[in-house]
Amino acid sequence: MKIALLGPPGSGKGTQGAMLRESFSIPHISSGDLLRAAVEAGSELGDQAKGYMDKGQLVPSELVIGMIRERVAENDCTGGYLLDGFPRTVEQAEKLESMVGANGHAVDHVVALEVEEDKVVERLSGRRSCPECGRLYHVSFQPPRSDGICDDCGAELMIRDDDREETIRKRLEVYRRQTAPLLDFYEKAAILRIVDGDAAPAEVAEQVLAAVREEDD
Ligand code: AP5
Repeated sequence: MKIALLGPPGSGKGTQGAMLRESFSIPHISSGDLLRAAVEAGSELGDQAKGYMDKGQLVPSELVIGMIRERVAENDCTGGYLLDGFPRTVEQAEKLESMVGANGHAVDHVVALEVEEDKVVERLSGRRSCPECGRLYHVSFQPPRSDGICDDCGAELMIRDDDREETIRKRLEVYRRQTAPLLDFYEKAAILRIVDGDAAPAEVAEQVLAAVREEDD
């Protein structure tokens, strides 16, 4: 099963990806996580990507597409994958299709999470993440048991560099301009399902599961 999660920054793609990879037994591939790992590792890709990410802009597609092409070619992707944050433009969606060529479609289901912009700003301003295991928290909605410490591995939680309010607003503008047109692209391909991302995380996951299973029936 090949699924792509769409939605504005903070709509819950990472949260859902972490929950749904268990349900579908497929890897969760977040382009943002891969790019942040490249920045952290100080690789050439990371050095090229960092400036764009800090400003809330998209990293040039030629950098991101190569990274995703390598990742989906790994052995754990033979049974499918759950993409989060990729594709992010119509150009990336077209390139993704050409990666798999004649061997079927690159994506079977696209699920778009809908959340109002004000809510998204509130979510991202309170987001904390674990630099060791990647678990996500929110200071009010999903707080860790001990302030600032990961429940799972005990690491000190961090705030993402692009979660400052002015960068969040920029990312939302980029989403509206460059990513929202993808909704039409996948609507025309008849594989788009819209899910209300404003419910509790477990409820959203149920809705995503239902949407994907309904399409498979
Ligand atoms: P990326 O990491 O993909 O960021 P994003 O799309 O802006 O999305 P976020 O990770 O901020 O939010 P999310 O939807 O995953 O929400 P989350 O689950 O964390 O990209 C970062 C940057 O990398 C981009 O700006 C760009 O520069 C670059 N990049 C990445 N992919 C690219 C591509 N394909 N092409 C070019 N450039 C690319 O949740 C947010 C918070 O809300 C958390 O605190 C969480 O606990 C809380 N929360 C989640 N769900 C709920 C809920 N249901 N109720 C209450 N709180 C919730």
